[in-house]
Amino acid sequence: MPDNNIVLEMKGISKSFPGVKALSNVDFQLRKGEIHTLMGQNGAGKSTLIKVLTGVYEIDEGTILLSGKEVKITSTHDAQENGISTVYQEVNLCPNLTVAENIYIGREPMKRGHIDWNVMNKNAEKLLEERLNLKIDVKRLLSGYSVAIQQMVAIARAVDISNGILILDEPTSSLDSNEVKQLFKVMRKLKAEGMSMVFVTHFMDQVYEISDRITVLRNGNFIGTYEAEKLPQMDLISKMIGKNYEEMQKANDVTRKYNIKDKAEALAKAKGFGRKGTIEPFDIDVRKGEVLGLAGLLGSGRTECARLLFGIDRSDHGTVTINGKEYSYIYPQKAIKEGLGFCPEDRKIEGIVGQLTIRENIVLALQSNKGIFKYIPMKKQQEIAQKYIELLNIKTPSTEQRIDNLSGGNQQKVILGRWLATNPQLLILDEPTRGIDIGAKDEIKRLVRELAKDGMTIIFISSELQEMVSCCDRVLVLRDRKIIGELVGEEIQESTILQTIAEGGMLA
Ligand SMILES: Nc1ncnc2c1ncn2[C@@H]1O[C@H](COP(=O)(O)OP(=O)(O)OP(=O)(O)O)[C@@H](O)[C@H]1O
Ligand SMILES: [Mg+2]
Repeated sequence: MPDNNIVLEMKGISKSFPGVKALSNVDFQLRKGEIHTLMGQNGAGKSTLIKVLTGVYEIDEGTILLSGKEVKITSTHDAQENGISTVYQEVNLCPNLTVAENIYIGREPMKRGHIDWNVMNKNAEKLLEERLNLKIDVKRLLSGYSVAIQQMVAIARAVDISNGILILDEPTSSLDSNEVKQLFKVMRKLKAEGMSMVFVTHFMDQVYEISDRITVLRNGNFIGTYEAEKLPQMDLISKMIGKNYEEMQKANDVTRKYNIKDKAEALAKAKGFGRKGTIEPFDIDVRKGEVLGLAGLLGSGRTECARLLFGIDRSDHGTVTINGKEYSYIYPQKAIKEGLGFCPEDRKIEGIVGQLTIRENIVLALQSNKGIFKYIPMKKQQEIAQKYIELLNIKTPSTEQRIDNLSGGNQQKVILGRWLATNPQLLILDEPTRGIDIGAKDEIKRLVRELAKDGMTIIFISSELQEMVSCCDRVLVLRDRKIIGELVGEEIQESTILQTIAEGGMLA
């Protein structure tokens, strides 16, 4: 029986890149007013499926039907003409334009041959307020706003262009829980208005909270489409990973072993270290061989604290002592020389160099540490790259692949590889599992424990409390840009971390 409610149908879609079959014979259907989530491990083909739908790539085989009629989508323009609009995994707005300009770029309202700024700003304000419940100054530069707001702006633009189909590729990966709630409110509202949405996320809770149906891809293959209500989480995971429950249990068995060395020497010691307007002066001892967690809500100062220790932002208060040498401030080159590594949370801004290969991206920090005159021979570079491709299970046909051809999660792993390659004494990991699939998350947690066991000291930041619990020997809790508590060993539990945040600390 034909289903009249199907607004989009993709049949037998295949797409290859040199050395990679990104999609093979994939089917996908989208109903009117449904939220349909695409799930699969890093590199499974989710973003590629979206990109063929939006004309970024042409399909090799298959057909696309909109409301029952076959269409050819060969450019992003075609997609827009057909009312399909997208918020990509990587926010690609222009930070140095205003909010309003970003929303209307390429389709500015005109008056007598000139852009009508008044109308543009008014429209932008109205759009954000009516459809996203967001009241902000649209005349301000986009760069002045948080990633969360920037994401909302991208969504506003997409909603405005869209004519019934909206695609959201990991829009929540950098939002905090309140922001996710707000986004979901917007999605539900759009859904009630009849909008059909394709959603991609790696967060299990979110999938079940918002999805009507779920389609699973694995290795470019279509595994199935399911009603979310009828698909238990365990089944979903095993379909994504391709292993059954027992096998997964085994893989999940990360033995929790504390590694507390109370008397261990401090590798780094911050005293009254701080920066005005960024983070209040703090004292931290980072002890050799421990995994020290920085916990707190988004914006609590975790990243700021890490950036200060690595010298990305310059301290204006106190001192930091590393390997017995005292500094009143530090800068990244110096930090690297002292054996520090910093794997940032935003791979797009501070991490990847898109035009370079995986190999070049991996050896980047190592090479800059050695200085340009001690060139690492090509063969050695390849060995190093290959080692981390294997260790981190990076999905790629070769070390010579350009990094921007990798899936989002695999790019994140390359950045982690870059810092592991420098073999730092102290490695700062800021949200290392963001955008990484559920199987790889476990691998990274295990890796963190193993590195610590082998003597590396790690500062670990994650918004997922469960990760803090399974990785850390000690946790410092931050709130409002201040360290307000410390939890050690068995004290580290999701409930105690939350309680400390809620109560505003126990040191006080
Ligand atoms: N332009 C490209 N050139 C070469 N290979 C590509 C290109 N785009 C994607 N690929 C490859 O196709 C496969 C599927 O990638 P895709 O980005 O669709 O994964 P994904 O499911 O979105 O993963 P993630 O969860 O990490 O974002 C990966 O192996 C990726 O490396
Ligand atoms: Mg992707």
